[in-house]
Amino acid sequence: MTQNLKKLQTVLDDAIHLAHQSEERGKVAQYIPELAKADPQKAGIAITLDNGETIGAGDWQQPNTIQSISKVFTLALCLGTLGDNLWARVGREPSGSAFDSILQLEHENGIPRNPFVNAGAIVVTDAILATYQPKEALGEIVRFVQGLAGDDQIFIDGKVARSEEETGHRNRALAHYLASCGNLHNPVEHTLGVYYNQCALTMDCAQLSRAGRFLAFAGTLGPNRQQMVSMKRARRIAAIMLTCGHYDGSGDFAYRVGLPAKSGVSGMILAAVPGIASIAVWSPGLDRNGNSYIGTKMLEYVTNQMDWTVFS
Ligand code: DON
Repeated sequence: MTQNLKKLQTVLDDAIHLAHQSEERGKVAQYIPELAKADPQKAGIAITLDNGETIGAGDWQQPNTIQSISKVFTLALCLGTLGDNLWARVGREPSGSAFDSILQLEHENGIPRNPFVNAGAIVVTDAILATYQPKEALGEIVRFVQGLAGDDQIFIDGKVARSEEETGHRNRALAHYLASCGNLHNPVEHTLGVYYNQCALTMDCAQLSRAGRFLAFAGTLGPNRQQMVSMKRARRIAAIMLTCGHYDGSGDFAYRVGLPAKSGVSGMILAAVPGIASIAVWSPGLDRNGNSYIGTKMLEYVTNQMDWTVFS
């Protein structure tokens, strides 16, 4: 191990140590029964560097569903096929409200504020279905993520997807409201079926940090510079992550961590340090905005220690 890598490994180990010391851990998501079983004591972190090397600490090799982080991958896929036409159906502004808010959708005539609130992500998935049947669309999403991560072992946890489907009244309400405004083009159950399954994509922190490399390295996979997403598109997706990736907590996250990032209710967060690294953290307890409480603390610690922010 080189000197720099040793230092980074120490920082990651210390972040996990800090995570274990914290008495406050947030609350595990309750509305998806399979997620409610998670242990809030768990904490993991992994970093993939520009040479392709991945290092980690804590529970970094325990697989979890990525939930809303999948919205980053479907957005990239959708923009790749539909291009800027998507922006007629979804905005690019922070929402200032909960990720599953219904109120805002009515006020704004069925045009979701951004692609990361649930309504916006449902529209993105619906737009992907313009060119694929539901099963094909799902296959396309999985292959895209596997290609980004360079790992064909990444799979969908059907049990978690079904668990969400059984209790997904909010998302069904959002999808029906979108349909009533003419902003859902496929049957509600088709679009939501794909959406629940994409949220149940399962990765450990190492796999997720690898899948997110394109955000840190201008759309490429790092060392071999294979262009997976255009440079401009990767930069723009990162911009939306910075402003909207943590819902109504995006401002506080930018203040404390200072990186484009996306959270999921499983307690995972994917963050990009432009030109340097891709980071994935996991700890299931959430803050009031549905973002990992300990995960944010770990990112705050690492970015402060390494001086890794987009504002430095
Ligand atoms: O649709 C839902 O409610 C979940 N499958 C995903 C929400 C989510 O991850 C919000 N992020 N923190």
